[in-house]
Amino acid sequence: MAVADGAGGAPAAARLVERDRAVVWHPYAAVGPDARSPLFPVASASGVRLTLADGRELVDGMSSWWAAIHGYRHPVLDAAAHAQIDTMSHVMFGGLTHEPAVRLAETLVAITPAPLRRVFLCDSGSVSVEVAIKMALQYWTGRGRPERTRLLTVRRGYHGDTSGAMAVCDPDTGMHHLFTGLLSHHLFAPAPACAFDEPCTDAHVAPFAALLAAHAHELAAVIIEPVLQGAGAMRGYAPGFLARVRALCDAHGVLLIADEIATGFGRTGELFGCDHAGISPDIMCVGKALTGGYLTMAATLCTEEVADGVCASEAGAFMHGPTFMANPLAAAVANASLGLLLGSPWRATVRRIETELAAGLAPAADLPGVAEVRTLGAVGVIETREPVDMSVIQPLLVDLGVWIRPFGRLVYTMPPFITSTADVATLTSAMVEAVARVTG
Ligand SMILES: Cc1ncc(COP(=O)(O)O)c(C=O)c1O
Repeated sequence: MAVADGAGGAPAAARLVERDRAVVWHPYAAVGPDARSPLFPVASASGVRLTLADGRELVDGMSSWWAAIHGYRHPVLDAAAHAQIDTMSHVMFGGLTHEPAVRLAETLVAITPAPLRRVFLCDSGSVSVEVAIKMALQYWTGRGRPERTRLLTVRRGYHGDTSGAMAVCDPDTGMHHLFTGLLSHHLFAPAPACAFDEPCTDAHVAPFAALLAAHAHELAAVIIEPVLQGAGAMRGYAPGFLARVRALCDAHGVLLIADEIATGFGRTGELFGCDHAGISPDIMCVGKALTGGYLTMAATLCTEEVADGVCASEAGAFMHGPTFMANPLAAAVANASLGLLLGSPWRATVRRIETELAAGLAPAADLPGVAEVRTLGAVGVIETREPVDMSVIQPLLVDLGVWIRPFGRLVYTMPPFITSTADVATLTSAMVEAVARVTG
């Protein structure tokens, strides 16, 4: 197995890890002599397989954090990237426009709920949440209610790592206590308690409704992940809860921001989580799978009413404009990725994967160390009773031939949509076996 420095196999992989340990910082990781969390150099990726620098092949169960829905090195996405590089990799978006961005915005408007008519392209999911929050605040300034600056959300939410986004993440499992003084103080209702396939009753929504009613005068918006709380919970909830949230926002004149960054583009079995409830938010964030996992790009969509309010504010314009806004390379790959998705039987594919995940993970429910096994769309979760030890379970999963990245008490998968029945079985049997061994 050739690696970048021309040497091969395990020794080269070990050297790369050593060089990495000396200078690189990884997500949510310590550095220095105590940084012993396992690290695996990847040499290449193709289809649903990651090839490690030591030659081992792993079936990818993470889609690189919900993004690579078509797998790696997809010929259509590769071709779109090559063609766009030969034309124009980047150009600033202030005062200039280009076909890839316009086409992408047109497609997003066409496939998201009808009232969403205006698209702001930005760099990452977290930035799209910042943009959504700024839009909501500027909207209320434009409507003569500048005091409406707070947000209401539910616990167990995750919306990103920048400061505006962190301030609406779960206050206990998020990073609020680390950044006291920086983060705005928002309002948190209990996480939705009604499971995805349960009816949502008045009692389920009562605490949320009470907070909304008490604070509507100071609220700019409600922000929520539709039907599936991702990184903060990996748990689905009833579409009826979301429908009631929409109705309550309407009743109290509060904007609704749907964070579809994880749930968008088919992952939960509908194109967007909001589609399960048949609702439209006032503002919607999408990202992750937007470019099929090739490049970083996200988008914030809003209604004409929100856009009008923003532009009626003192600034007369929306005050945000990143350097790499609407990057043509990312937009071209996003167009190709959406073309692939919309031209495929994605709904049947996600249903197949859901059925296979449910069947394959079911044996884990009998393990004494397992609290719950659940699936929703192409997401499968084993929740353990105690947090798993990453230094034990991560190498074990690699030895079992899969790339699964657990956190806390969650051993979960959201495989690429191109994953075959046999590869889903490899993922689920490895997950069950690894959990059995580490909790046994
Ligand atoms: C629901 C949700 N919102 C926002 C984000 C932040 O996106 P990014 O990591 O691209 O900044 C994530 C990332 O996991 C997410 O799951």
